[in-house]
Amino acid sequence: MTKATAEARANIALIKYWGQSDPRLNLPLTSSISMTVDKLVTRTTVEPDASLKADTLSINGVAQAGAPLARAQRHLDRLRQRAGSAAFCRVASENTFAASAGLASSASAFAALTVAGFAALGAKVSEREMTTFARLGSGSAARSIHGGFVEWRAGPTHEASYAEPLAPASHLDLHDVVVVLSEGEKKVGSSEGHGLAETSPLNAGRVARVPALLAEVREGILHRDIKKLGRAAQEDALLMHAVMMTSTPSLLYWTPGTVAGLHAVRRWREEGLMVYATIDAGPNLHLLCAGRDAPEAARRAREELAPAALLDNAPGEGARLVAAHLF
Ligand code: DP6
Repeated sequence: MTKATAEARANIALIKYWGQSDPRLNLPLTSSISMTVDKLVTRTTVEPDASLKADTLSINGVAQAGAPLARAQRHLDRLRQRAGSAAFCRVASENTFAASAGLASSASAFAALTVAGFAALGAKVSEREMTTFARLGSGSAARSIHGGFVEWRAGPTHEASYAEPLAPASHLDLHDVVVVLSEGEKKVGSSEGHGLAETSPLNAGRVARVPALLAEVREGILHRDIKKLGRAAQEDALLMHAVMMTSTPSLLYWTPGTVAGLHAVRRWREEGLMVYATIDAGPNLHLLCAGRDAPEAARRAREELAPAALLDNAPGEGARLVAAHLF
């Protein structure tokens, strides 16, 4: 056992993970496809220590207690069980972005914790198995193990619900320009939201439509056809939000700024700028466009949407061990 540090990046889903067939194992209702991004990075150091009575966790230098600590401890229990170790761990984590601002921070967090944790506990696991363990911490974390363009296969069992690369980051210069409209904490997180999907009468319609949209996004990625993948990604984001809004209780993540952004994106497309929008479980808009169009999309977003912050992401690398420890 040794001290280990890993770095992982968040991902933006082009076809969303929303709803679960097994909440205990985070098995999703549908497969999903994402792009790992380059600028939303989590770095995590894990050090097993025989003298500890329990795991400890600090995030951005602040010691954690309550739910965030308990969630990390549950994940470390899974890693320990697989590694055949009983050692509690000291964990420190740093993010380059605000947690819970709808920027999918749990994906990079659990991808980094899984890679660093297994290395620290001395377990040798394949990349595929690594994605299944990341998934147990947070579903979307399975996709952040890989860089570039990634598909998470729904799979009927723990072993069969894994993420695999579709194309490396260098294959397609798709950008995700994140238009942060509110940095406030979200009221209902995704973990709770997944359980509501099946209360929506529209969920069955979305689930039936997703296989065709997955195929369009796969083809769009393969043929570097941003129009094709952008159109399908935007349709799926709207389908997911229709499901959210019509769940019981209803989840309405959009603010007036989100709606103004959707109108603006449509107008920009009519004006000849090839840009599509996707939205996660929050109010922020993610503008999907070619890298060469990203500066213009960002310029228009700044001018017309008054964002609290804006971040232009290119495709990013997968999770990996790094030499620089946090403590
Ligand atoms: C809307 O369960 O992976 O971003 O609750 O933060 O762990 P946490 O997220 P997760 O749900 C992600 C839902 C989504 C869509 C997606 O990323 O596929």
